[in-house]
Amino acid sequence: MSDAALPIQASPEADILSALGARSIVLVGMMGVGKSTIGRRMAARLKLPFVDADTEIEAAAGMTIPEIFERHGEAHFRDGEARVIARLLDGEPIVLATGGGAFMREETRNRIAAKAVSIWLKADPDVIMRRVRRRADRPLLQTADPEGTVTRLLTEREPIYRHADLTIASRDVPHDKIVEECIETLRAHLRGEQAAQSPADVASAVR
Ligand code: S3P
Repeated sequence: MSDAALPIQASPEADILSALGARSIVLVGMMGVGKSTIGRRMAARLKLPFVDADTEIEAAAGMTIPEIFERHGEAHFRDGEARVIARLLDGEPIVLATGGGAFMREETRNRIAAKAVSIWLKADPDVIMRRVRRRADRPLLQTADPEGTVTRLLTEREPIYRHADLTIASRDVPHDKIVEECIETLRAHLRGEQAAQSPADVASAVR
């Protein structure tokens, strides 16, 4: 068979972009699971802008996250976080990495469900601990027992993170492997959505 006779295969990236339409891709999950690293690489593959919600919050406040917590408290930070994410999701499609607590707010979860496809990057507590130990800029972990804090937060948060559309295990393998899994799982999910839609589309077309 000559090449010309082969069926045209769209790339996974092209499939994803066309099925996403106006929606964004939102990464959720605990501190240290790699939302920014994976998000940046996914964005590069999909040729979408990458946005880190924490960076946007810092820019909007003109302060670092530790400063916001210290001067105004967590509740103030959470309100700003919800506003910034709402604004970002109102814009053009992006790949958005959210801070670990953002998805805990119902209003934010509803917005994400309406305007994006969400991916929970799920990691084991020991992987998270190893990664968060490297940085001291997370106010919630400035406790006498950071390991206990991570365990408590995971217990509170995992039942909520589970509401994300997709779950990918973040672990100590090369980042590009996780990115590949995100791309493939996203593509399969979006294909499933389209398959589920088509009978209704057909029905409405013949009506
Ligand atoms: C937080 C996670 C942080 C940042 C803030 C609070 C949380 O973001 O938003 O320190 O509540 O888990 P990362 O998940 O990007 O570290």
